Amino acid sequence: MAKPRSYIPEIGKSVVKNVAVPDGRPVINLSLNESSFGVSPLAAEAAKHRCERLYRYPDPTSTDLRAVIGKRFGLDPDRIVCGNGSEELLDLIGRLYARPGDEILFAEHAFLAFSIVAMRVGATPVRAPAPGFTTDVDALLERVTDNTRVVFLDNPNNPCGTYISADEVKRLRDGLPENVVLVIDSAYAEYVDRPDYTDGLELVAGAENVIVTRTFSKAYGLAALRIGWGYCSASMAGVVNRMRAIGNVNAVAQAAVAGVLEDEDFVRGVRDATNRERKKLTDAFTAMGLAVTPSVTNFLIARFPDTGNHRAGAAYAHLVQNGIIVREVTDYGLDDYLRFTIGRPEENDAVIEALSRFMV
Ligand SMILES: Cc1ncc(COP(=O)(O)O)c(C=O)c1O
Repeated sequence: MAKPRSYIPEIGKSVVKNVAVPDGRPVINLSLNESSFGVSPLAAEAAKHRCERLYRYPDPTSTDLRAVIGKRFGLDPDRIVCGNGSEELLDLIGRLYARPGDEILFAEHAFLAFSIVAMRVGATPVRAPAPGFTTDVDALLERVTDNTRVVFLDNPNNPCGTYISADEVKRLRDGLPENVVLVIDSAYAEYVDRPDYTDGLELVAGAENVIVTRTFSKAYGLAALRIGWGYCSASMAGVVNRMRAIGNVNAVAQAAVAGVLEDEDFVRGVRDATNRERKKLTDAFTAMGLAVTPSVTNFLIARFPDTGNHRAGAAYAHLVQNGIIVREVTDYGLDDYLRFTIGRPEENDAVIEALSRFMV
């Protein structure tokens, strides 16, 4: 029977759920780049407290939330916009600034949501080469045309875990025409411990066309609540606020963020544990003969041989059989790779154990 035609082709891999493990062990899901290190007790307490008043709507302007974010990051709350995850903000920017015939530009292997946003609005996704899996600012700038409306930069990049320096981000900002919106998506900023990194917040000053997006889904451990935020000019904040749904950030999320922002020790602990475990996985995979792309985030990609019995698809199936779900990245054009979210120590030990049995 004929079906209505969707303008959005199938894109992105569906997440494997309910994998049955024969001996009843819990499934280890390292496919989504969530934090593996739990939730701050202060955030959980604040969320529970708000649950006593679930019959009340959330504050539609997220006023207290923007105030605590502003205080923590030293920013003007009037220029902070909040979203149902930072993904909502990426989507809103696409809807606000691009239409069919326009171009949305980003690096090859950039976050899949960027091309999805382009297709939702009927704009053309344009990909700039990213040698060494790292965003190339010159390649982006060379591809700017009169039709470019939005440039998305995920820094660090998902799925590769690489980053570009503050100088390079500034060069990108300065090289773009003022009518092109630059989105600096810093979803993994908390994990980066490199002196030449910036989350981009200082690059918003004096620019009408720049928005930085951040999230509480990763190191802050609040993925289930869907809460992200952006920082931009007052005029851009105004249009984003007109485009978004009125109650886009739920009340429990608003309360939990206030809790976790009082618990910076928790976030530091998550970052340190993640970075320690990332090194452990990197060393173990390298010793097995896999090529690991150096990552500054809570995930990494590893390259498998392109012939023989040790190919990425077979490794993925072997891990699933052992109750471990990682991310195939064929939809990112990375057929020989798998992406591993960094788990807790015992989860990573299980990955290393299962994979070393596979690689013999
Ligand atoms: C680069 C990047 N940006 C944004 C997001 C969206 O995060 P959220 O919508 O949970 O804030 C993700 C999620 O994986 C991501 O990898």
